Amino acid sequence: MPHVLTAADLPVPEILRRAEEWRTRLQANPIPPIQPRAALIALLFYEPSTRTRAAFEQACVLLGYHPLVITAEVSSVAKGESLQDTVRTLCAQGVRAIVMRHPQAGAPQTAAQVATAPILNAGDGAHEHPTQAMLDLYTLWRHYEMPDPRTRWLAGRKVAIVGDIRHSRVARSNLTLLAQAGAEVWLCAPPTLLPDAPFPHATLTHDADAAVQDADVVMALRLQTERMQHGLLPSLNAYRRDYQINAERLQRAKPECVVMHPGPIQRGTEISDEVADSAQSLILEQVRNGVCVRVATLEYALGE
Ligand code: NCD
Repeated sequence: MPHVLTAADLPVPEILRRAEEWRTRLQANPIPPIQPRAALIALLFYEPSTRTRAAFEQACVLLGYHPLVITAEVSSVAKGESLQDTVRTLCAQGVRAIVMRHPQAGAPQTAAQVATAPILNAGDGAHEHPTQAMLDLYTLWRHYEMPDPRTRWLAGRKVAIVGDIRHSRVARSNLTLLAQAGAEVWLCAPPTLLPDAPFPHATLTHDADAAVQDADVVMALRLQTERMQHGLLPSLNAYRRDYQINAERLQRAKPECVVMHPGPIQRGTEISDEVADSAQSLILEQVRNGVCVRVATLEYALGE
């Protein structure tokens, strides 16, 4: 029973293949007939989410399972139940898998210790967000015309991730998969939003112009204010001036550079409208691919 707790747990070539099969299937028939099963997949969402939750819900439906969405406010967490007991309860009722988003880093590992069904991490604190990194990788893999995923197919490509690196689980998981595929990864943030610990396999910088210079891919990240202590940013205007991904800054990148963002976007802060809506932007493609990657990952975890 494989859990998917970190990006390193993902069998990348297999998920890419399965995601592509789903994409083809859904392209041929966006509302495919399903064989409903009398079984649930639990989605524990203890933090806000739109796209990740919607994609996982759709993935459950496509596999014929009923998604049981539980948020912290309506669950027994509000009555003092521990995460372990919630997981034991759901497993005793026979849920086939548990997808969870949790504000605490490491919560999915805790859940996995007592679970008898696979746990899929849909984001834990500032730690990991494996399926987001997987859908970002899938989006790039398609963009670069589906090279052999067992090779270092991103070798020679520069990927700049710009924004609130310190609080970003997306950056952490992406770094694992991008480095594995051979990309040269630059992580760029204001000094107070860079992580304290060194990041192996990445170049860290405060200089967004240097990060974007000759990049093949630029990924903008949201300021994770919900995880931020006061005083980490001198001013939003200075942030925009020094770190916003806008047309002017992008002129430094390769002409064929593509722009990504995991969402939710704060238009006019980390990314300009013009860039978010440009032909260079893969943002909506990422969202579309999110469904294929979630269904592929669930299928894999369920052993189907
Ligand atoms: C991200 C998340 O929640 O980690 N969003 C997402 O899942 N697409 C990034 C964010 O919240 O900024």
